[in-house]
Amino acid sequence: MTDLEEIQTFIDRFVRQGMRGALLPLLHAVQEEFGHVDPKAVPLIADALNLSRAEVHGVISFYHDFRTAAPARHVVKLCRAESCQSRGSAAIEAELSRHLGVAMGNSRKDGQVALEPVYCLGLCAIGPNALVDDRPVARIDSAAVERITSEVEA
Ligand code: FES
Repeated sequence: MTDLEEIQTFIDRFVRQGMRGALLPLLHAVQEEFGHVDPKAVPLIADALNLSRAEVHGVISFYHDFRTAAPARHVVKLCRAESCQSRGSAAIEAELSRHLGVAMGNSRKDGQVALEPVYCLGLCAIGPNALVDDRPVARIDSAAVERITSEVEA
């Protein structure tokens, strides 16, 4: 659990640096520092930027990159955009989900791995593609699914 005093100190330091009014940079900074934006931080952020809690919550929920819970130890992001779909990403998604034991868009209950969608990694010609802990993996097939599974289970 994130310590609220620690979050408040971080927010105060951020605002003192002259970033007043900069909700997105502050949310990114909080997530980078604490791994996620704890829902308990929403009132602190709202107060610091003179916004309503609903405004802060709205931005957090609109942008898929913001996490409101601690991240899994490993994150597999599979491309779901058109080119990767035409190269079989739906079948790879089913295989990955089965091997990793987690449905798309979720974290496994033990916190070991999350499977998330991403929409185009700029590697369309060599799909289907994914990011495994931010490392690109191209031309994913059944063998690659097994390698990814071994890597995140280690
Ligand atoms: S569509 Fe998947 S990398 Fe572009």
